[in-house]
Amino acid sequence: MGKKEIVFQERMNRHHDELKWLYTELYGNSDMFAELCSQMYEYYKARKQKLHNRDAKRAEDPDWFRKKDMLGMMLYIDNFAGNLKGVREKLDYLKSCNVNCIHLMPFLDSPEGRSDGGYAVADFRKVKPELGTMEDLAELTDACHAKNMNVCMDFVMNHTSEDHEWAKRARNGEGEYMSRYFFYDSYDIPAEYEKTVPQVFPTTAPGNFTYLPEIKHHVMTTFYPYQWDLNYKNPRVFNEMMYNFLYLANQGIDVIRIDAVPYIWKELGTQCRNLPQVHTIVRMMRMIAEIVCPSVILLGEVVMEPEKVVPYFGTIEKPECHMLYNVTTMASTWHTVATHDIRLLKKQMDIVNGLPKEYVFLNYLRCHDDIGWGLDYPTLKSWGLEEISHKRYLNDFFTGKVQGSVSRGELYNDDPVTMDARFCGTTASMCGIESALYEKDANKLEEAVRTDLMLHAYMLVQSGIPMLYSGDEVGQLNDYTYKENPSKAVDSRYLHRGAFQWEAADKCKDTDTVEGKLFTTLSTLEKVRRTESVFDADANAYTYDVKDNSILAIIRMKEEERFLGIFNFSNETKTAWIQEEGTFKDLLTGKKFQMKDYVLPPHGFVWAKKVK
Ligand code: GLC
Repeated sequence: MGKKEIVFQERMNRHHDELKWLYTELYGNSDMFAELCSQMYEYYKARKQKLHNRDAKRAEDPDWFRKKDMLGMMLYIDNFAGNLKGVREKLDYLKSCNVNCIHLMPFLDSPEGRSDGGYAVADFRKVKPELGTMEDLAELTDACHAKNMNVCMDFVMNHTSEDHEWAKRARNGEGEYMSRYFFYDSYDIPAEYEKTVPQVFPTTAPGNFTYLPEIKHHVMTTFYPYQWDLNYKNPRVFNEMMYNFLYLANQGIDVIRIDAVPYIWKELGTQCRNLPQVHTIVRMMRMIAEIVCPSVILLGEVVMEPEKVVPYFGTIEKPECHMLYNVTTMASTWHTVATHDIRLLKKQMDIVNGLPKEYVFLNYLRCHDDIGWGLDYPTLKSWGLEEISHKRYLNDFFTGKVQGSVSRGELYNDDPVTMDARFCGTTASMCGIESALYEKDANKLEEAVRTDLMLHAYMLVQSGIPMLYSGDEVGQLNDYTYKENPSKAVDSRYLHRGAFQWEAADKCKDTDTVEGKLFTTLSTLEKVRRTESVFDADANAYTYDVKDNSILAIIRMKEEERFLGIFNFSNETKTAWIQEEGTFKDLLTGKKFQMKDYVLPPHGFVWAKKVK
C-alpha cells in the first residue's frame, strides 16, 4: 500500500462502521454502500496534492476555523466583480477589508430567470458560463489559499432545477429519474402533504407541488415551482449528490454551506422539516468529508428556532455541522433596533453564551435573504406583545412607516392568510443612512452611521465567526433597480442584492465620507478583534446588567483579561449604570478612563479593556 492509500485507509477505518451502520439504516443496500466507498477513494485520489497538504496541515490544527482572526464576507460574483477572474483581481480589496473567508454566492449553472438567485442548480459540475469555468474556480481558490483566505460555496442539495439532466429525463417519463424526485399521478398524496407542510414562499410560490401537464404528474416543489425536491429515500440520489459534493470540494472549497438542510427528508404526515433522517444524512456527509477531504467544513443553513438549530451540531462524539447561522440572534438584534428594548436580545445572548464552546455560530447582521421575524414569542407575550401585531410593528418600523423610524426597505412574502411578512433591505438603509442622505440631514446621517457601526461592533463581540455582507463595509444602500428586471421584480430580496459600488469603495479611506467613516472604524474593530485574546473562541462571554433596558453590555474574559462592550440601542443619550474597579482603555481611541456610570450618545457604543 502506498502512503496515500494508507492515509485514506486510516481515515476510512476510523469511520467505516458508523458510516455503514447509518447507511444501512437508511438504505439497507450494501451494493450502493460499496459503490459509495469506492467512489470516495476515487475522489480522494483525484484531489490535488496542494489540497492533500491543506488537509494534513489542518488535521494538526482542527480548530483553525474557530480562530479570532476569522472574518467572512458573502458576495455575489457578478455584483462584486463581474466573474470569477474578476474576483481574483479584487482579492487585495477583500484583504483590505480584513476578510479571510469569502462566501461566493451560488455560481453553478442555473437557468436565467428561473434560478432563485442561483439556488436552482441545473448542473453541479458547471459554472454559469457568464461567471467563468470550473478551472477559473479552482484558480480562484488556489489564489485565495495563497493569500490565507478560505472559500465557501453553497451546496444546494434539497432540490435541483427543472433544467437539471435528471429533471429533464424525469419529465420525459423515465422512471429511473422520476424516482429521484417526488412524482404523483394524482393530487391525492400531494393533498395529504399540504395538510401538514408549511409554505416557504407563500406569495411568490404558493403550494408545495407543481403540476406538469405534459406527463400528467404532480412534482414536489417546496421552494419555487422550478426547484424540484430531491428524494433522498433513493440511495442513488444520496450517492450521486455526495459525488457532486466531493467534486466541488476538490475544486479547493473550504466551507460547504448546506443550503436548506432541514428540508432534505420528507415524510407524509409531518412538516417535512428537521426529521431524524436529515441528521443521519448530515452525519454521513461529515464522515465522508473527514475521510476524503478533512480540511473541508460544513456550514448548515438552518433558519429555524434555537431548539431546532442546535441539534445540527450533532454531539461531541458524533458531530454534524461545524458551523451554524446564529439566526435568532440576528432577528432579535433588529427587533431591538426597532423597540429600543434589549431584554429579548439579552435573553437570547444568555442562551447562546450558555451553550458548549464547541458550538460555533456564524454571526451576521444581514445576508442575501429576507429577515423572517423568528423571535421568542412566548417571552414577548409574557411582556404583552402578540406575535402578529408585533411582526406588523417591526415591518412597519423597518419600512419607515412608524413615527420616528428612519429605516427604508420592503416587505417580502407578505402573506394575507397568516398576516405574516418578512423584510428586505441593506444594513445601511435599515440604519437610516438612505433616508438621511435623501433628506440631506447631517445630524440624522451622523446618527445613522453611528447605529450602523454600533450594530457591527455588537455583532463582532459575539462568540463565533462574524460574516459581513458585501457592501456593508461601505454602507451600500438598497438598490431599487431590480423592479425593472421582470425576472427579479417579484422577489424583493433583490433589493439588497445590488451591484457593488466601486465608487463608494474608492472613498473608503476618506473619513469625511460615510463610506470612509464606516470602513475605517470597522477596520479598527476587526483588527482589535483579531489581536485581543478576549476574542479567543474559548473566552467566556456574559451579558451584564447596567440597569437600563436600552443598553446591552457584554463582558468577555480570557484569563486575566477583561473586556466590556456597551451598546446603546436607543436614540437618546444614556448612562450605563456600572462600576468596575481599575482603569479601562477605549480600544478604539486608546483613551484611558474609570468605568463608572458610562455615558453613551444615541446609538453609541464603547469597546473597553481593563488595563492591568
Ligand atoms: C436558502 C437560500 C435561499 C433560497 C432557498 C432555496 O434558504 O438562502 O436564498 O431561496 O435556500 O434554495
